[in-house]
Amino acid sequence: MVVPITEGELVHLLDRRGRRYQILVKAGATFRFSRGSLVHDELIGLEDGSVVKSDHGERLIVIRPTLEEYIAKMRKGSQIIYPKDIAAILMFADIYPGARVLEAGIGSGALTMALLRAVGPHGAVISYERRPDFLAVARSNIETFFGAVASAGTEGSGKLIVREKDVYEGIEERDIDRVLLDLQEPWKALKHVDAALRNGGILLCYNPTVLQIFKLSKRLALQFEERFSVTGIYEVALRGWEIKGRSIRPENRMVAHTGFIFIARKFAPTA
Ligand SMILES: C[S@@+](CC[C@H](N)C(=O)[O-])C[C@H]1O[C@@H](n2cnc3c(N)ncnc32)[C@H](O)[C@@H]1O
Repeated sequence: MVVPITEGELVHLLDRRGRRYQILVKAGATFRFSRGSLVHDELIGLEDGSVVKSDHGERLIVIRPTLEEYIAKMRKGSQIIYPKDIAAILMFADIYPGARVLEAGIGSGALTMALLRAVGPHGAVISYERRPDFLAVARSNIETFFGAVASAGTEGSGKLIVREKDVYEGIEERDIDRVLLDLQEPWKALKHVDAALRNGGILLCYNPTVLQIFKLSKRLALQFEERFSVTGIYEVALRGWEIKGRSIRPENRMVAHTGFIFIARKFAPTA
């Protein structure tokens, strides 16, 4: 279905060299860059993927950003989870439509947005975050994405409940389907995760160092052996390739390491 670009939408403009510019379409406004300018009114009514020209004749492709493209450009308060890892997390944590997912912390909201889409209109994401400054950045990123990016899937996204709290001090929810922890000392939250997560539920922790993963697995084995079973520890390596004439090869640069994905399943105590 063709849905024309309207005022107030966030769109990306791609130039010939692949450079990307993000703009909020506003009637009467002008976009300026090194190769000329373009009045926003020219964008209103166009379809996604249209081509326009600046007043200097530079070609610009007009696209609605994907979530991955939006995350790359959005404001970062904290370190975020990279889209390559978010993709794997959605599958390993088995985030399904209708699920109630608890995450800590919200950071810049990158994972939160993917979760909100994946749980769908009948699901919910409950985010614990102890830093109000990060919460403000995350809220703004999430509101812009679901409010101004027409391809965000607003009508199909889940409900977001934010708790400005330290997750190490407790979790008030019960019968949660999935818990995702992206914080420094996840083992400090295990007691509360145990109380909040339903039997059969999944705990997924994301940490950059193997010492954190080791400590987490030790603590699970020592104190929660009767409640949790580790089902996987992974890292995701994604290497881009490029084609330049007859040179077809991996890109020179890659993000070599981001974080480990640690997954455990909760089960009922033995009768
Ligand atoms: C690496 S960032 C999370 C990034 C986020 N997953 C994203 O993709 O944008 C870690 C966040 O956890 C928060 N945090 C750390 N310890 C916490 C705790 N005990 N309770 C709640 N939030 C916590 C930090 O303030 C920070 O915002």
